[in-house]
Amino acid sequence: MLVNMRDLLSDAQKGNYAVGSFSVANMEMVLGVIKAAEELNAPIILQIAEVRLKQSPLEIIGPLMVAAAKNAKVPVAVHFDHGKTVEKITQALETGFTSVMFDGSHLPLDENIEFTKKIIEIARKYDASVEAEIGCVGGSEDGSEDIAINCTKPEDAVKFENETGVDALAIAIGNAHGNYKSTPKLRFDILSEVEQKTHTPLVLHGGTGISPNDFVRCSKTGIKKINIATATFDRVEQSVRSAYESGSINGYYDLQGAEVEGAYQSAKKHILIFATDNKA
Ligand code: 13P
Repeated sequence: MLVNMRDLLSDAQKGNYAVGSFSVANMEMVLGVIKAAEELNAPIILQIAEVRLKQSPLEIIGPLMVAAAKNAKVPVAVHFDHGKTVEKITQALETGFTSVMFDGSHLPLDENIEFTKKIIEIARKYDASVEAEIGCVGGSEDGSEDIAINCTKPEDAVKFENETGVDALAIAIGNAHGNYKSTPKLRFDILSEVEQKTHTPLVLHGGTGISPNDFVRCSKTGIKKINIATATFDRVEQSVRSAYESGSINGYYDLQGAEVEGAYQSAKKHILIFATDNKA
């Protein structure tokens, strides 16, 4: 069933776990992720980032994601990741997304606050939740930019929470999008301080490459949403490649099946690490 992200994250706060938020690019990935969530009886978030719309147009993938969520046997929130423009954020809300992110992490804090407040005002008309980001997560969602990591200042998180009342706050603690060039060393000291000084559910971007132990530690230290993108895209590609290598693809529908299988395996692995199975 399609649910508001606010409700999923509030349950995660009560239960002290983090919900997996899975980036998808096509129907096969949507089917694979939902299959894993249903099999494991797990709540999930389906998301797509604004930079990905050139490959997967919002007017096509958006309704597909919302329909898949409505049909699912488990709670699914549909989230617009790294929203950059009011136009596309509004289009996602019109399509039925139950959550949107405004990424103003590149702006000075006060401008980020002002813009986020405007997005919250728009999203409230749709009863949708809003995620924002402060500090800079490294890399970029589609690998096109190598943005330097700039860790969140705990006092900025307090100010941001007080002035915006945002529903979820992405923070930067040494995490980065894409495959890490070296083992990530997350700043748990910063995460703990933010957790102690704020009440907002926190979001960890750049989930690919973070160790299972660190995921669990994050989820016990205020992180209530974990974004996974590259791991799923890579797993889908690998699944198709090995199906060809093993000679198990005889025609298009075997290829389609291999894509669904890759997304399913990635979502299943992360749901089990996050221990959100049977939390639906
Ligand atoms: P990864 O591609 O590193 O998993 O990051 C996902 C993400 O944070 C999407 O916003």
